[in-house]
Amino acid sequence: MIWNLGSINIDNFYEVPHLPRAGETLAAHSYGFGLGGKGANMSVAAARAAARVSHIGAVGEDGRWTRERLMEYGVDIPHVANTPVPTGHANIVIDAQGENSIVLFQGANVELTEAIIGGALTEASPRDFLLMQNETNGQDYAATTARALGLRVAYAAAPFEAAAINQLLGRIDLLVLNEVEAEQLAEATGKPAGALDIADVVITLGAKGCKWVSNAGEKCFDAYPAEVVDTTGAGDTFTGYLVAGLDRGMDMEAAIDLALKAASLMVARRGTADVIPDLKEIQDHFGS
Ligand code: RIB
Repeated sequence: MIWNLGSINIDNFYEVPHLPRAGETLAAHSYGFGLGGKGANMSVAAARAAARVSHIGAVGEDGRWTRERLMEYGVDIPHVANTPVPTGHANIVIDAQGENSIVLFQGANVELTEAIIGGALTEASPRDFLLMQNETNGQDYAATTARALGLRVAYAAAPFEAAAINQLLGRIDLLVLNEVEAEQLAEATGKPAGALDIADVVITLGAKGCKWVSNAGEKCFDAYPAEVVDTTGAGDTFTGYLVAGLDRGMDMEAAIDLALKAASLMVARRGTADVIPDLKEIQDHFGS
């Protein structure tokens, strides 16, 4: 079982000819909105990968539908609190090459209390996963509580913030981060990610695949070919699938392979949580 302490955002999408420059006003070709947030995206990905996931988060009055939608996608929501503070949202601009730029409003995502987080984790069992990203408050308390209860702690270091990850070091079993975040982490700690006393580190490399660093050394995995239209949420899809695979008893190599397949389908789609592929789509596409 996966306990995901994660953000829930209303994602607003704007397709633009190029990412806006300072001072520029830019007309979008299209607008849409949907369920998002790195946390919600990972919960949906893990549920679509057939893991049982309970989301720990918070939404405001304006985002009650996001809570319902998580449930419709197979995510448990008893620990998603309703708050008087508005739901987090993200304004996402996507250029013609599928690259994005995101402005976040944290809103209810930083209104989590120890009672909400602790209340959820008391239902967890040893060897369950606590999954976290850096879009909510409460990560320090959650990691301490999870470790005390014998859970495995998986952390996706996004959006990257040196202080956030520094406070968690020593309590992370699986760290997932992209190449840029890995460089930022090395700068902040003075050590490469592989020297940080974390059992497994997975560094995603976009179109080049990913690298797994563990006590056994380093292993690189190629990405599956994809026609990129929108990279938003692809990293979240990768992480959700990876943790789901491990939670379901796959070894790391098999879980990474599944996660790379899911991410390659995701970059060919526009949107975030609402378009994350499920296992059947992966099987239909890759034949296994
Ligand atoms: O990683 C993509 C996500 O980042 C979006 O869904 C947006 O909500 C932001 O949190």
